[in-house]
Amino acid sequence: MPDLQYVNQIVKEVMRWRPVITLGIPHANTAANSYDGYYIPKDSIVYGNIWNMHHDSSHYKNADDFVPERYDGFTKSAFDRDHYVFGWGRRICAGMHLAERSVLSVAASVPWAFDIVPAKDAQGRDINVSADLASAYHHGVVGSPKPFPVQFKVRSEKRRRVIEASFKNAQST
Ligand code: HEM
Repeated sequence: MPDLQYVNQIVKEVMRWRPVITLGIPHANTAANSYDGYYIPKDSIVYGNIWNMHHDSSHYKNADDFVPERYDGFTKSAFDRDHYVFGWGRRICAGMHLAERSVLSVAASVPWAFDIVPAKDAQGRDINVSADLASAYHHGVVGSPKPFPVQFKVRSEKRRRVIEASFKNAQST
């Protein structure tokens, strides 16, 4: 991954721009507390608003835009706090290192194998993919994009052979 810095930046920006768990997992405070002028009674249910933190323009310039370049020079894992997609504190995601490495591995391998290009409509025109928040996503505790059409084109015959051999190998184990 140190040699694939831009892939690393794309993964960080996807996790920041469209966090999977938008409100984190609910927690309860074991003692009364005050924060930023708010009194939080003991045993309150508290959500960490990951979405809001990730779209705070005082922290991330032009926070609604997808800009992997904002992570120029950020080479470390998410544990070093360049975003909050895995939560924080004592209950931080227990699988974050596995999750981050898995996503990086897929994000590096898929573009090696395929060009991902727009699908065509019946008239042969490109179908644009929307990232519109109101219409293009399933919303809930876990957010995810609705299905969208694209074409995966294998980038070369040599790559096709590697993909098919890997597929055969995966099926046999
Ligand atoms: C991109 C993938 C993932 C994301 C975005 C994610 C995100 C999160 C978040 C936001 C929390 C709540 C943290 C908090 O309460 O402050 C969490 C908790 C947790 N995650 Fe993940 N997670 C991912 C993948 C995984 C994987 C692969 C595993 C297991 C191998 C895992 C295991 C857990 C566990 C066990 C907790 C509960 C930890 C606790 O409450 O002490 N997660 N995750």
